[in-house]
Amino acid sequence: MSEKIEVLQKLVADLAVLNVKVHNLHWNVVGENFKPVHEQLEGVYDTLFEQYDEVAERIKMLGGFPLASLRSYLEKSSIEEMDSHDISIRQAFEIAKNDLSSLRETALHARKLADQEDDPITVALLEDHVTDLDKHIWLVSQALKNA
Ligand SMILES: [Fe+2]
Repeated sequence: MSEKIEVLQKLVADLAVLNVKVHNLHWNVVGENFKPVHEQLEGVYDTLFEQYDEVAERIKMLGGFPLASLRSYLEKSSIEEMDSHDISIRQAFEIAKNDLSSLRETALHARKLADQEDDPITVALLEDHVTDLDKHIWLVSQALKNA
């Protein structure tokens, strides 16, 4: 398996695990601004879920088999899961910022490998993904500054 596919597989796993984790934050965040934060986190997992499917389908177009089981996601992903409990808005944003930044790094790594292999379609897809991740990272970073 090429290194590019290898990193795309990790990206699928990270997107799957982080999708669940951001649902956890969306459900369990508590505080005065619950509703807008709850809704903001829904925007994050909608983005992750879309990217998850798009990266998996790109792996298929490249002739590979995307990881497709929860067990394999937990094995490959470096995103750490969390238990279900009350979580402050600040903590939720810190976790989201940290994990989205790590996901961004993995997407950029895959983009670099795709570029080296002269695969402009994967490059374009991942650049779009990083653009959307940057928007979410910016939103949580601004909130952390003022919190
Ligand atoms: Fe929801």
